[in-house]
Amino acid sequence: MRPAELAEIFQGQFHAPAEIFSAPGRVNLIGEHTDYNEGYVLPSAIGFYAHVAISPRADQKLMIRSTQFPEAFEIDLSSWPPKKMGAWYDYVLGVGVELVCAGMSFPGANLLVHGEVPIGAGLSSSAALEVASALALLSLEAKHLPLKTIARLCQQAENHFVGARVGIMDQFVSCHGQADHAVLLDCRSLEYELVPIPASLKLVISNTMVKHQLSGGEYNLRREQCEQGVQILAKKYPQIKALRDVSTAQLETEAKDLPPLIYQRCLHVVRENRRVLDTAESFRSGDLPRVGQLMRESHASLRDLYEVSSPELDVMVESAEGLPGFIGGRMTGGGFGGCTVNLVETSQAQSFATAIAVRYRQKTGISPDIHICSAAHGAGAELRKAEV
Ligand code: GLA
Repeated sequence: MRPAELAEIFQGQFHAPAEIFSAPGRVNLIGEHTDYNEGYVLPSAIGFYAHVAISPRADQKLMIRSTQFPEAFEIDLSSWPPKKMGAWYDYVLGVGVELVCAGMSFPGANLLVHGEVPIGAGLSSSAALEVASALALLSLEAKHLPLKTIARLCQQAENHFVGARVGIMDQFVSCHGQADHAVLLDCRSLEYELVPIPASLKLVISNTMVKHQLSGGEYNLRREQCEQGVQILAKKYPQIKALRDVSTAQLETEAKDLPPLIYQRCLHVVRENRRVLDTAESFRSGDLPRVGQLMRESHASLRDLYEVSSPELDVMVESAEGLPGFIGGRMTGGGFGGCTVNLVETSQAQSFATAIAVRYRQKTGISPDIHICSAAHGAGAELRKAEV
């Protein structure tokens, strides 16, 4: 939907002119389940956006509606803070709660949300909604916060209000993504570097159509298992504060003192961090076969050690092998369903998309959605464009 169309619907519903704020979803090239271990990730923003149209109200009411869902939300700000409702607008409310905690006192407002990021596909529809909502709500007070602060605040909204203990990756890249680049992010310092993705490549995203659900227990359980690993390792090496600090040698030495399952989880994270840095380096040096190899290793590790893949994700990953122009692929995002990401030569992307869909349908009976993408701008770049 074009912003003008959304503004028109908004006008029809709220009888007021709207300002529109947008933020994208993301695809992660490599570095899965490393962000909350203070490690490295390499995601790109993609050209699917959440749009939030907003106008102030004089009566201290906050009204939140969607173009796609019938459930709407209304609260009088005198009964703030709201409770989690188990609905799509929890992401907006959570951001509102965090903004108030950060010192903002917004007046009443009308919000109308339109999301383009496929939901439950592991492409961060929630982070896109959070970031767009934060920008929209901040506009009410004409407040500018640094983008890094906005990303952190949105992550906290999801941690505290929604109850998913996610890391910073999705919100950060939704803010800082750049067209044709991946973002190499150090999730401890929040320093980042833009890594160019060659124009000869497309990111082909294959949706298994099996939805994942982050606030479900498995994600939080993985996080606890990592924390358990850190606790045990820190007794021997006090300088270890997160799995980011653990070397492969230390892990091997301590293997006998770790419960086997915890060791397995730690091994994935420690090696995955290394793979992220190697992938960035391979992009820089133009060694695409190595990038492909690292993506394959990442998938195998997520499947066998971290155990967050699914039969459909594995079928999708296997279906890509041997197709012309295919460089490498893996599951992307939290797992347990959702999408795979494939690096494919631009000239072969269309035929790759057709062929992988046929193979996946033959093996599972499910028709997948395939998206041929390039890395897109994050909300920050969009904001700067709007200011020009
Ligand atoms: C989800 C979370 C991220 C990250 C990934 C796994 O997308 O939101 O913070 O942990 O899973 O890499």
